[in-house]
Amino acid sequence: MSNIFLVGTHWGDEGKGKIVDVLSECADACIRFQGGHNAGHTLVINGVTTILHLIPSGILRDNCKSIIGNGVVVSLDALNQEIMSLKNAGIKIDKKLFISKNCHIILPSHVALDVAREQALADRSIGTTGRGIGPTYEDKVSRRGIRLEDFESNVFESKSSELMSYHNFILENYYQQNKIDVEKTVTDMRTEYEKIKHLVCDTTALINDLSSKSNCIFEGAQGTMLDVDHGTYPYVTSSNTTLAGLLSGSGFNVNKLDYSLGILKAYTTRVGHGPFPSELDNEIGKNIAKWGGEKGATTGRDRRCGWLDSKILKKSIQLNRINGLALTKLDVLDNLDKIKICIDYGDINYQTLTTPNVKYIEMDGWEKPTVGINSFNDLPSNAQRYIEKIEELCETRIAMISTGPDRRQVICRDDLFAK
Ligand code: IMP
Repeated sequence: MSNIFLVGTHWGDEGKGKIVDVLSECADACIRFQGGHNAGHTLVINGVTTILHLIPSGILRDNCKSIIGNGVVVSLDALNQEIMSLKNAGIKIDKKLFISKNCHIILPSHVALDVAREQALADRSIGTTGRGIGPTYEDKVSRRGIRLEDFESNVFESKSSELMSYHNFILENYYQQNKIDVEKTVTDMRTEYEKIKHLVCDTTALINDLSSKSNCIFEGAQGTMLDVDHGTYPYVTSSNTTLAGLLSGSGFNVNKLDYSLGILKAYTTRVGHGPFPSELDNEIGKNIAKWGGEKGATTGRDRRCGWLDSKILKKSIQLNRINGLALTKLDVLDNLDKIKICIDYGDINYQTLTTPNVKYIEMDGWEKPTVGINSFNDLPSNAQRYIEKIEELCETRIAMISTGPDRRQVICRDDLFAK
């Protein structure tokens, strides 16, 4: 029995959804522990694409329980929409999906505040997904947030009315925005809650029970550099996306963690604003974006592209106690004659968002298709060298390599659940 933690090594969108999906074949539970529906995990199964925002990727397997841990912030509306679209696709939900009663709820006024703040920041905006994530975590930390359990103890109506009145005051007087209709929102949210109430439970007990006797996958959302403490602050999300977030956001006993798998893209991308030392603001960057279909799964925004940043990779390995890596989207680099890896730079300037002395090493590309290759030895020799160079730079094994979007397009060098 093994418990595996999956975490994005850079700014998210490393392809975690696909790797979770591959591993979930042998998993009994798949657990989310932070973030909300700002995440977007894309899965391709038999040519059919499914994008999940809130529900763990394991939901697509009948054998796998999906758990939304206490650290996740939940939009009832987004959750119900996602459940509905999964049900329409013939996916079972009941007795497979469990949601922590301690999850904080995203109110429409949190969304309005997120959008208003971003507008007010203008050219200093964070580039958030506009889903209300930051304001919901603010209220959680300030101890005025609304939890799912508040519906059952019948304090939801009074607590949320009071909180939305406070939000309305800020929206109207500070941001000169329209107010939220408190009465209607409270009624609508109760209706949305009634649809999912049978899924709400004490997930910490469930997670600790399952992780003692079965295979569990803890699915990180966003990436290490979006961590509110360790990332490129303030251009980050509002939760701990790293190992620390797994512990607080699920109540999992760290002694039972067997393996941390860092998910690393063969190049780097970032959505939203903020520093990006190895960014390719040129034709190569545009081509990588085109070949890699680099559009945000949640907002549809273009992702910025750059060379693989091994300095961040090393930091990520340390912060997350990474044992091995899964390298994704190798095939996207198939057409390049030269490929660089960023190895070092000076301190990021957060006023200008620039980075001095960015240093790279350059390698020959492989210029041959790698799409769908299932064995390391079948990869072109320059692709093998690229992989081995990354391993050498970060002193960590690349245990899996993804060579296309489909579940079957993968090289598994190690059996992670056998560790
Ligand atoms: P927020 O999480 O919506 O507050 O956005 C804060 C920052 O995190 C922005 O730069 C977003 O683009 C980024 N972000 C949030 N979720 C994701 C994700 O799932 N993938 C990549 N970036 C994300």
